[in-house]
Amino acid sequence: MTPSIAPILITGASQRVGLHCALRLLEDGQPVIITYRSDRPGLQTLRDKGATLLFADLSSEAGILALINAVKTHTDCLRAIVHNASEWLEESPDQPSAAFTRMFSVHMLAPYLINLQCAELLQRSNPADIIHISDDVTRKGSSKHIAYCASKAGLDSLTLSFAAKYAPAIKVNGIAPALLLFNPEDDAAYRAKALAKSALGIEPGSEVIYQSLRYLLDNPYVTGTTLTVNGGRHVK
Ligand SMILES: NC(=O)c1ccc[n+]([C@@H]2O[C@H](COP(=O)([O-])OP(=O)(O)OC[C@H]3O[C@@H](n4cnc5c(N)ncnc54)[C@H](OP(=O)(O)O)[C@@H]3O)[C@@H](O)[C@H]2O)c1
Repeated sequence: MTPSIAPILITGASQRVGLHCALRLLEDGQPVIITYRSDRPGLQTLRDKGATLLFADLSSEAGILALINAVKTHTDCLRAIVHNASEWLEESPDQPSAAFTRMFSVHMLAPYLINLQCAELLQRSNPADIIHISDDVTRKGSSKHIAYCASKAGLDSLTLSFAAKYAPAIKVNGIAPALLLFNPEDDAAYRAKALAKSALGIEPGSEVIYQSLRYLLDNPYVTGTTLTVNGGRHVK
């Protein structure tokens, strides 16, 4: 049932950062199980390279529990869980609680339930890690994405609580990126403004998150920490 090297579960890895990290881990010889919600071109590449792909819609408790069951039918051991899936929704005046409820489910309820119910799989691996992909915006709040920011701040809190609960068997850390990748529709003015917010002023791409994951996976003395990967936004 379990391959000789325990797999890493990465949520929301059909594109962008999650896809890049899954491919880099596969290059390292690390088996991965990824979750996807949409059928995107990257999925075939992952299949071709030997990844296990599981459908998951994490916007409801039923979807989260279905994923947990699916994971347990594929493996009885996990090297790590990387909670990457994310939605970046604005407040909607017509449906005041919709965005909050969705992002609460994806950013907090999913990691909470998965961490609780998959702990036994992680405990069969040594070392074992949980990594929450949060957001640097939780440092200062956001007037345009209040629910997004609050749900990612909740994820930062889960990092502290699960690190305490699961030590020393499982390390639990977060990564808080600022701008990594623009969206194709971002115009020149938006891009210039966003780049000017950091001291380093670059669009770094997904590799910096793979490097951060690698650091957290490989370092035996770091738990309960959220690693800031923000190009020095806080010193500008
Ligand atoms: N990109 C940046 O500049 C940036 C900046 C700060 C923080 N971050 C954080 O870094 C991580 C990766 O960023 P990214 O830009 O690569 O993310 P992304 O492309 O916006 O989202 C990653 C994936 O999450 C999945 N997802 C969304 N809602 C879901 C749901 N309800 N159920 C299951 N899966 C769902 C989507 O899967 P499908 O495509 O399969 O539908 C999507 O591909 C995220 O946690 C993000 O918050 C990114």
